[in-house]
Amino acid sequence: MKIGAVSLDQPVALAPMAGMTDTAFRRLVKRKGGCGLVVTEMVSSEGLVRGIDRTLEYAEYTEEERPVSIQVFGGDPQVMADAAQIVEGMGADIVDINMGCPVPKIAKHNAGCSLMREPEHAANVIRAMARAVKIPVTVKMRAGWNEHSINAPTLAKMAEDAGAAAIAVHGRTAAQSYTGESDWSLIARVAEGVRIPVFGSGDCVEADHVVTRLRDAGVGGVLVGRGALRNPWIFRAGGGCAERIATARGDVGGARRVPARVHRTAVERARRRSRRLPSPRARPGRRAAGGGARARALGRQQAAGAELLVHQGPRRRLAVARRDQSRRFDSIAARDRRRFFPA
Ligand SMILES: Cc1cc2nc3c(=O)[nH]c(=O)nc-3n(C[C@H](O)[C@H](O)[C@H](O)COP(=O)(O)O)c2cc1C
Repeated sequence: MKIGAVSLDQPVALAPMAGMTDTAFRRLVKRKGGCGLVVTEMVSSEGLVRGIDRTLEYAEYTEEERPVSIQVFGGDPQVMADAAQIVEGMGADIVDINMGCPVPKIAKHNAGCSLMREPEHAANVIRAMARAVKIPVTVKMRAGWNEHSINAPTLAKMAEDAGAAAIAVHGRTAAQSYTGESDWSLIARVAEGVRIPVFGSGDCVEADHVVTRLRDAGVGGVLVGRGALRNPWIFRAGGGCAERIATARGDVGGARRVPARVHRTAVERARRRSRRLPSPRARPGRRAAGGGARARALGRQQAAGAELLVHQGPRRRLAVARRDQSRRFDSIAARDRRRFFPA
């Protein structure tokens, strides 16, 4: 799928999560495979423009995370446009606008989800940013501010007209915060009303939820948030199947039906992989890397550095988890070294 000129090899992305999706976690997810796009934690537009160290750190990313989207929050069109230029200058692939944060500290500054209460102003912010940069500008919103003002379908259309290249919708209102359920029928309505890709967000905590939402909600892609915190492998299990569904559908942005057989197979595979069950075709006693085409394929993947945890025993999985954790600590230490002992 494509967001502007940026191609994603999977229609499944890591949702932005403040305090969680830092560069180390994003790399961990990318190394597990299956994740088409990562989004940074939200970054203050004011902090970027003023060059505040801590803010710049939140926007740090590494090459292996690409394609990477940096999410900014703020309510002033000029400051947001300047911040978008800084993000573009940092080499990010996409700049995303936070229109979903319900936290009063953010919302009271006319940023985050409170932008949804003033759709005209929100459209001005998007327009100013889209004019300021060449990289795609995307918007992440909620269903609306509260149950009396559910306006994601209208705002999504306005965002498209203002130059947004894609929309992500978390199907809860700001008032709901994280209670209740994400409203995927509303997300489907948003997807129906615009031509740009729409990513649905909310409650995809198993790989087969991802696949089912891709099939039923007519969305171009799915964002996975909390599900990735407890299971960073979710993308590998869900993403590959999601890709097959998208390919069968012919157009990930459209709402065409997926043939039932393709869907059944994809869901079954996702389920098996997320539970790490062997394939029904695998014969007992057969070694994963013993011989034949499958073994050769595994060998090739291993040679390319892929981690085939599904086919490995608990010891190997533990060793890999320890190695990943130590890389994560190394990277935090490196970041702190730069922060506290600048050259
Ligand atoms: C700890 C936490 C931090 C979050 N931070 C952000 C954020 O910085 N920007 C944003 O747009 N959404 C943020 N979200 C919302 C998620 O991106 C996502 O839309 C929401 O959690 C629903 O998806 P899920 O059920 O897959 O977690 C955050 C969610 C959580 C749980």
